[in-house]
Amino acid sequence: MNITVELGERSYDVVLANGARHELAKLIRSRAPRAQTVAVVTSPSLRNQPWFGFDSGLSEHVIEVPDGEGAKTLATLDELCERLAGVQLSRHDVIVAVGGGAVTDLAGFAAAVYLRGVALVQVPTSLMGQVDAAIGGKTAVNLAAGKNLVGAFHQPLGVLCDFDTLSTLPERERLSGLGEVAKCCLLEGWRATQVVDVSLSDLAIMSVRLKANIVSGDEKESGQRALLNYGHTLAHAIEVLALERDIDELRHGEAVAVGLAFAARLAHRLGRIEQGEVENHDALLGAFGLDARLPAHSATSDLVGAMGQDKKAHHDLTFVLASANGFDLVRDIDADVVATVLDEFRGEL
Ligand code: GLY
Repeated sequence: MNITVELGERSYDVVLANGARHELAKLIRSRAPRAQTVAVVTSPSLRNQPWFGFDSGLSEHVIEVPDGEGAKTLATLDELCERLAGVQLSRHDVIVAVGGGAVTDLAGFAAAVYLRGVALVQVPTSLMGQVDAAIGGKTAVNLAAGKNLVGAFHQPLGVLCDFDTLSTLPERERLSGLGEVAKCCLLEGWRATQVVDVSLSDLAIMSVRLKANIVSGDEKESGQRALLNYGHTLAHAIEVLALERDIDELRHGEAVAVGLAFAARLAHRLGRIEQGEVENHDALLGAFGLDARLPAHSATSDLVGAMGQDKKAHHDLTFVLASANGFDLVRDIDADVVATVLDEFRGEL
């Protein structure tokens, strides 16, 4: 299945299939015909996986970066760019990012800034990467002050979502990806009963189709793309507090699941949706096996404070919220209302 992100002459396909990684040589031949060298950026744990093997048809250098969100730093970016220079990667050459969201964010940002920009192919190997992180051109590293605070939009030449890689995905990572899939189902207005018996590959295809449509119409997030942050205001606050305390508590998509359940309750409190839609959110998250409870350590006042600091919030409390007519980015929500709904949510689950 190929889904196109339509961006004029920068349009590209997201290929979703078992064995999609074998499309690499064809993709590079057609989109980067002057390339002579490929830098495959990946992490050590992936290099040993049975599916790891990339034939670009060109001279290849595998460059390892550490696993996980902790690797998304300016220091790792510096090391990576030195390695790219060390293999003499030129303006015509290609970076192939093979990994989960952290690797594709880091390698994508290196591709955006090394030599003021080189071509990039994303090969996301986690469900999270395949349904969200590697599509749409957002690349970034973290600062001590927060996640993804230094980054760039840099669209790839193509995205190869190889379902073979999901066979070795740890259960927590699968659940995390399902958090983003649940978000897409809810944005598409699905009822909980609709997700039963839908295969993971069909769920991934639905999610990518939604994201590709939205990014095609709003590449730089000046409008509709912000809706992809449904559930993320609370999720980011949970993640920021966990990071400050050095607690590896919830994966990103697991935090998004909590954020989705909360956003439904807030929308209901603001008179935007009926109680039945709140129940639909809970049932849909439950159908994916996602736990929507707030983490125990997170005090309401800390969460409200962190939500006000979110980089999308412009110092107010901003949420994507459902209504009977669709979703909106709602700004300037009263902090007392948010705190009350949070306390009720905590007591209820
Ligand atoms: N992850 C949301 C976006 O790419 O816009």
